[in-house]
Amino acid sequence: MEAKRLDGRVALITGAASGIGYACAQRFAAEGADVVGLDLHEAPDWTAQLRSASATRFVVLDVCDWPALERAVAETVQTCGRIDILVTAAGIAGGGPVHALDVAEWDRVQNVNLKGTFLSAKAVLPTMMAQRSGSIITIASIEGLQGSEGGSTYNAAKGGVVLLTKNMAMDYGRLGIRANCICPGFIETPLLDSVFNNEAFATYRERLRDQHKLGRFGRAEEVAGAAFFFAADDSSFVTGQALAVDGGFTAGHRVGFTEVMGLE
Ligand code: NAI
Repeated sequence: MEAKRLDGRVALITGAASGIGYACAQRFAAEGADVVGLDLHEAPDWTAQLRSASATRFVVLDVCDWPALERAVAETVQTCGRIDILVTAAGIAGGGPVHALDVAEWDRVQNVNLKGTFLSAKAVLPTMMAQRSGSIITIASIEGLQGSEGGSTYNAAKGGVVLLTKNMAMDYGRLGIRANCICPGFIETPLLDSVFNNEAFATYRERLRDQHKLGRFGRAEEVAGAAFFFAADDSSFVTGQALAVDGGFTAGHRVGFTEVMGLE
């Protein structure tokens, strides 16, 4: 049988029940990795979908629950022997302009998106340090690279994830551990649907889609493709990067001249 690119690797993926995390779990399993999924709830078809992997496990937990994370990592090391890859895809939408933002909403978004990323990395790092190898892949957002109207706590948390990732690249590079961040544009997942299900935002869906220079929203598998690059040996000299996987959203402002130039 042909060797697969992630054969023998063990991947821990948070937010694995849905969207981007789920797509990463499917891709990594298809590439030969043993995958351990972490989420608040298990996707109904998780085990069936990933049965191609030699070992897949699911642990129901909250990424803000430090003792639960420590337990999940200890169990993974006991069962699988190592942890090679961490993807932190657990995340929630939320925010609003600062003057109107509840303090509790600020904390809710910071806790899952930023503190959850910190805790997940903190939980796997001792294992990766002992191995002197590992790849940490955080999922931020283009909203961690630039502002957006009403972004506030979400953008602040995602900007924090970008810099936390770069700092981990600095701190652990000498130990053979790489850390890279993916900044997706708008990706068709349940999270995006939840934003546009809000009546006030529904009319802006098309305008937002149009800011992606490829003229469409992204797919979770396209983010998983970038995560696979960071997980596999092809990126062995890449660390500390924030890669926008955004269909050109952040390439520049679009006003529609391409139509005048006959480029549409
Ligand atoms: P999703 O809602 O489809 O999946 C997120 C998963 O995280 C869910 O299964 C949810 O249960 C889990 N989760 C939420 N809070 C958790 C917690 N406290 N503990 C454990 N699991 C938790 O969302 P999607 O779109 O796949 O998002 C994944 C990541 O990508 C998030 O961090 C999101 O901010 C980010 N992102 C998404 C974009 C999009 O347009 N969909 C754009 C840019 C970034």
